Amino acid sequence: MSQPTIESILQEKRLFAPTPEFSQQATIGSLEAYQQLYEQAATDPAAFWAELADKELDWFQKWDQVLDWQPPFAKWFINGKINISYNCLDRHLTTWRKNKAALIWEGEPGDSRTLTYAQLHREVCQMANVLKDLGVVKGDRVGIYMPMIPEAAIAMLACARIGAPHSVVFGGFSAEALKARLLDAEAKVVITADGGFRKDKIVPLKPAVDEALKDNAVPSVQKVLVVQRTEQEIEMVSDRDVWWHELQPNASANCPAEPMDSEDMLFILYTSGTTGQPKGVVHTTGGYNLYTHVTCKWTFDLKETDVYWCTADVGWITGHSYIVYGPLSNGATSLMYEGAPRASNPGCFWDVVEKYGVTIFYTAPTAIRAFIKMGDQHPNSRDLSSLRILGTVGEPINPEAWIWYHKTIGNETCPIVDTWWQTETGGFMLTPLPGATPTKPGSATLPFPGILADIVDLEGNPVAANEGGYLVVKHPWPSMMRTVYKNDERFRNTYWEHIPPKDGEYLYFAGDGARKDEDGYFWVMGRVDDVMNISGHRLGTMEVESALVSHPAVAEAAVVSRPHEVKGEDVYAFVTLEGTHASSDELKAELKQHVVSEIGAIARPGEIRFTDALPKTRSGKIIRRFLRNLAAGEELVGDISTMEDLTVLDKLREG
Ligand code: WTA
Repeated sequence: MSQPTIESILQEKRLFAPTPEFSQQATIGSLEAYQQLYEQAATDPAAFWAELADKELDWFQKWDQVLDWQPPFAKWFINGKINISYNCLDRHLTTWRKNKAALIWEGEPGDSRTLTYAQLHREVCQMANVLKDLGVVKGDRVGIYMPMIPEAAIAMLACARIGAPHSVVFGGFSAEALKARLLDAEAKVVITADGGFRKDKIVPLKPAVDEALKDNAVPSVQKVLVVQRTEQEIEMVSDRDVWWHELQPNASANCPAEPMDSEDMLFILYTSGTTGQPKGVVHTTGGYNLYTHVTCKWTFDLKETDVYWCTADVGWITGHSYIVYGPLSNGATSLMYEGAPRASNPGCFWDVVEKYGVTIFYTAPTAIRAFIKMGDQHPNSRDLSSLRILGTVGEPINPEAWIWYHKTIGNETCPIVDTWWQTETGGFMLTPLPGATPTKPGSATLPFPGILADIVDLEGNPVAANEGGYLVVKHPWPSMMRTVYKNDERFRNTYWEHIPPKDGEYLYFAGDGARKDEDGYFWVMGRVDDVMNISGHRLGTMEVESALVSHPAVAEAAVVSRPHEVKGEDVYAFVTLEGTHASSDELKAELKQHVVSEIGAIARPGEIRFTDALPKTRSGKIIRRFLRNLAAGEELVGDISTMEDLTVLDKLREG
């Protein structure tokens, strides 16, 4: 199965309207209702968001100005005082939701736990008090490196409660990657677990923390709080490491939520860009709370009885916005699953759907393609009739996978919401509303109300229907990233300088290529920069190149991605070796492993190709375009006249 091509997309004419029964019960139940909201929001965005902020959230103190926009720096709800942990927990305790399931958790080995809002609140307060005892004060950054267990969400909410911005690092990242992120964030405390279960193995998390902190490599870190999960032997460093299960019983469950300024930093989340160093995307409190709340509510048409399951990991933005903050702010029941579909248990996801009567299921195209490969017998032998809405995120979905999802999982009745957004945007930007928007397989359809998205050329001019261009957003929205942590300059030149302001209006450059069809539907094609999308995970080519050249045998490396049947894209590396090193299969395996230990398993190159030289321009720049063609086994496209040495290409083609 391949990625969507321009041709296949232009040929895609199928339209799937929500059923009348679905629309009737939906909060936003017709295209006209959506259009009305959209118009209203576009005419006066500030008034639109202010009304929702007032209606949907609890504030300790109201704002006195909705938006302060000094491009490219936005502030929302100026002088408003709010706490997202309060909005996710405390405010539900005075209602019947007090004893409603907030988190339903299923562990990979089959253990499970349900936490009501009252129980979750209690544990969050206890962890917040433990963090205070460990010396964390408002403004201190806390690293979180956890498996998918309730304590991951508890840790995030505990940090938010006391105003300590968290920086969650995906548990699949290596010790090296963790170290770089902890260093940049200058974290004071790290919350981790002994390990986690993934694909029938134990992921050794605490040992990776030890390795990252070895020889005082991250001097800011004073304490490590360890949750017991797998019970394997680990080392506890005295004076630094403490066990959660030893401290929790004596921790007070009384911890009032700290009134935060609307613009106080809520978290940093590192994401890949075009340089070797990941960027710390900064999100703040009020606008992020509002936007994740409203998008979650409308896009998933949340009902009190829903069992909502987002299969992402809390280490990514999807886990932040749509496992923890969005659903809990709405008082919904959010399901967390520790495991991944695996050969030993190919039906595990469908078992979870059946066991808990999941009603909303949100996953990534790469997972859908993996399910297709595992065979229809697995979903077909489970009762999936509880499902009412399906969602996808992370990469373009190929129409075949969409149709399979619609038929085999959705019984041809569940609307599919294909949500386009980014770590930087905080929440959904392009998405159908399930009771309102007719869907087209492969299209993220229309912008969310309040989002002024467009497709433009490099001068900022809108392009004609069905013409390719750059996806941009015109007006600030509440959950947009505020800056790159400690690096305003990088924020400015990554997102605001590729395309100049048009008619005085600043354009947020998303880094994606896209087109809009004659109905105004958006079709996202993928990244236009040196960012790859491996199984829906963002990875910079430069990050992998830096990892490769840090190996003593490597002189130079150029990394591209090539299409992959299940992962969407796969890492393909071209490597030239230092003088005395000879190419061999052993060295190939060693280099792949080296990348895994520098970054993590998601970055493991599918293929490494040794070469004597790389194709370069006369000014010495590697011409990746040709390498991408070579990796995909395609004809070379583009101008070769700028090349320094034409024989390089011939050699690569022969090899
Ligand atoms: C890609 C993930 C097509 C896109 C939430 C974007 C998508 C990058 C979609 C952000 C989608 C995400 N259709 N492409 N529905 N959703 N993308 O920061 O290239 O991990 O720029 O955020 O994923 O990845 P990130």
